[in-house]
Amino acid sequence: MPLSLAQMRRNYTLNGLREEVALDDPLAMFRQWLQQARDTECAPVEANSMVLATVDPEGRPHCRVLLLKGLSDEGFTFFGNYQSDKGQQLAANPYAAMTFFWPGLERQVRIEGQVSRLDPALSDAYFDSRSMASRLGAWASPQSRPLADRTALEAMLADTIKRFVGQAVSRPQHWGGYCLRPERLEFWQGWADRLHDRLDYRLRDGLWKRSRLAP
Ligand SMILES: Cc1cc2nc3c(=O)[nH]c(=O)nc-3n(C[C@H](O)[C@H](O)[C@H](O)COP(=O)(O)O)c2cc1C
Repeated sequence: MPLSLAQMRRNYTLNGLREEVALDDPLAMFRQWLQQARDTECAPVEANSMVLATVDPEGRPHCRVLLLKGLSDEGFTFFGNYQSDKGQQLAANPYAAMTFFWPGLERQVRIEGQVSRLDPALSDAYFDSRSMASRLGAWASPQSRPLADRTALEAMLADTIKRFVGQAVSRPQHWGGYCLRPERLEFWQGWADRLHDRLDYRLRDGLWKRSRLAP
């Protein structure tokens, strides 16, 4: 049967999102939704996966999937290569957006704010918690740069393994964490007949103001 994208749609009926159940603190609400997503989504979906959008100096947007690795009152933490495309884009323009999509719960959360590098001690601590293979990979892979072929990457990894024989593999300067400090969060809950619920939180003078948006 031919694939008809125009006909592909689901009616969402799992949950409503009413002001009575929405929390005043959007970060507390995000934690609640993330926990519920972790309990609901079946493997191999990772509830902490999200799409991160950044903008390059020509004003062109780029997005890619990343894993959320921490959440504190400061914001949302993720890790990667500081010299990658996203690293260069964030160095030039710290504004970024993240989107989480939890289909099993018919939910989306959108988060916008400014990104800064994590304190190096926190990046060190996270790096040290990773497997040896991941640590060596962070040294070996020039993320986002072109490779002649797969063998070139394997050769870089083999060189890195040789270089670190008998030595501790500590965090390279070009790899580490970022924290997105949210200025806006939007919680979307699907509902029947496209009458979805959207609650939008914006930070004004240090306080979160909530409003409802049309679906
Ligand atoms: C499920 C999943 C999780 C990922 N997690 C990360 C991550 O935490 N950090 C990261 O740098 N790249 C991660 N990636 C790879 C990114 O999508 C992307 O390919 C990489 O960061 C390079 O992006 P850039 O060239 O825009 O910098 C992940 C990809 C997938 C599909």
